[in-house]
Amino acid sequence: MVGIDIEKINRFEHWTKEGYARIFTDEEISYAMQFENYLERFCGFFCVKEAFIKAIDDDSIVYKEIEVLHTDTGKPYIKRTEYINELLKEKHKSTIDISISHCKEYAVAIVIIE
Ligand SMILES: CC(C)(COP(=O)(O)OP(=O)(O)OC[C@H]1O[C@@H](n2cnc3c(N)ncnc32)[C@H](O)[C@@H]1OP(=O)(O)O)[C@@H](O)C(=O)NCCC(=O)NCCS
Repeated sequence: MVGIDIEKINRFEHWTKEGYARIFTDEEISYAMQFENYLERFCGFFCVKEAFIKAIDDDSIVYKEIEVLHTDTGKPYIKRTEYINELLKEKHKSTIDISISHCKEYAVAIVIIE
């Protein structure tokens, strides 16, 4: 199962702190805020959330439940919460792979569930 999403970075320019906190987890916020191009980072995470919803074909999940973390080498992954594990079980799937890319104007993410 595959999902992809692309978003304009400037979509996130005027979001309030509360807006970010509704969509992004504390971990995602502190990761993104380390970087000067933090809007690109937020946009990439947002793309992962939408791409995951497309891949899993279930829009009952709230965005904050889909959390993007990183390995020591910087590779992004989706945290395996109880809710996500349950969704995967329902679909008879077990792995989630993601990839993110961003530049000044756009971010894109792909999610593959197998
Ligand atoms: C990781 C790397 C491929 C990213 O490519 P890039 O064109 O700079 O940036 P992109 O916007 O396409 O990708 C950035 C995203 O890649 C992902 N990423 C970072 N490290 C990764 C890794 N080890 N594996 C997979 N994905 C990775 C992250 O999701 C990152 O976005 P995020 O931190 O906001 O989540 C690149 O920085 C790299 O390989 N660096 C190490 C090698 C290097 O610097 N060589 C020198 C070249 S001469």
